[in-house]
Amino acid sequence: MVLQFNYPTTILYGPGAVRELAERLARGADRRFVLVTDEGVVKAGLAPRVEGVLSAAGLQVDVFTDVHPNPVEEDVEKGARVFTGARAAGLVALGGGSPMDVAKAIAVRATHEGPLSRFDDKLGGDRLIEHPLPPVYAIPTTAGTGSEVGRSAVIITRDTGVKTVIFHPALMPRVAVLDPELTLGLPPHLTAATGFDAFTHGLEAYLARGFHPMADAVAVGCMELVLEALPGAIARGDDLEARGRMLLAASMGATAFQKGLGMIHSLAHPLSTRYGIHHGLANALLMPVALAWQLEEKAAVFTEDLQGRYRRVARLFPGRAQADHRDLPEAILAFRAEVTPSR
Ligand SMILES: NC(=O)c1ccc[n+]([C@@H]2O[C@H](COP(=O)([O-])OP(=O)(O)OC[C@H]3O[C@@H](n4cnc5c(N)ncnc54)[C@H](O)[C@@H]3O)[C@@H](O)[C@H]2O)c1
Ligand SMILES: [Fe+2]
Repeated sequence: MVLQFNYPTTILYGPGAVRELAERLARGADRRFVLVTDEGVVKAGLAPRVEGVLSAAGLQVDVFTDVHPNPVEEDVEKGARVFTGARAAGLVALGGGSPMDVAKAIAVRATHEGPLSRFDDKLGGDRLIEHPLPPVYAIPTTAGTGSEVGRSAVIITRDTGVKTVIFHPALMPRVAVLDPELTLGLPPHLTAATGFDAFTHGLEAYLARGFHPMADAVAVGCMELVLEALPGAIARGDDLEARGRMLLAASMGATAFQKGLGMIHSLAHPLSTRYGIHHGLANALLMPVALAWQLEEKAAVFTEDLQGRYRRVARLFPGRAQADHRDLPEAILAFRAEVTPSR
């Protein structure tokens, strides 16, 4: 079997990376961009800051902020109208997974007829994405989804009412900007929830069926970084080092999950759609119970390889060098309890 492994996104990493992006864009032929963000990111002062950096580099920027957490199709349609009306050449996505996913979906809708459910990955909708898409430049302000290096957008489509994955290599952002200065003000509960999303990506990619040693190595690296950096990022929001490591962990998680995800994400999506629960929080809630269920109910089909994988992940947790594969849910529960911020 011939397998394809791709890790192609250009990543700019480090404090001040946003200015570097602005300078690079200013050297290109395109002048007009739509900045896709949301109200929370505006309130945090980040959207005006980034808009200022882009404008100072000589770029013309229209700002679009109508993005819901757990974005819906209407957000995408409104944004596509703004994009077309502005005659923009590309999109700059600034925010968490929600604005990044909406920007990617805008690139599809601005060049393709709707509805978005046509492009559902489960139905092979990627075959309908044909045109070259407008470029997306992604600047995450949370460290979780890794959408900045991913080929998918997750949108609640109107006619189905469910979270729908739209997937195509052309959705991959042209450049991902990992600037830890932009995540310093992320509140502890969102830092924790998004950090658990990153961890879940590493975990599920590593446990997913399939032969992909490159994804496995990146997935383990992602989990190690989260376990090392997340407690500091939650306890001391202004810890630039911890924030930077979490951004890297998030990008690594999404890089790894081209191998696949699993039951935790499959259950998290309906929880978010029905009850509006934040995606990362849904993963954090489900992770120990889903793993415990699999250990109990699926024990008969646990191969030696899979046991070894559970054991290896359990042993990544501090102080658990002797852990057994069955200890994984408990290790996660203890870590989760240790880092959960008080509200
Ligand atoms: N495309 C993918 O591969 C992928 C992977 C995982 C999740 N997702 C999707 O991403 C979405 C979740 O993204 P998310 O977890 O990043 O949350 P989000 O983008 O929904 O943001 C959550 C909240 O945090 C606020 N916020 C963001 N950055 C901030 C900052 N620096 N300071 C203060 N507030 C800030 C936002 O305004 C928003 O209110 C879900 O819709 C999920 O389905 C996509
Ligand atoms: Fe996720």
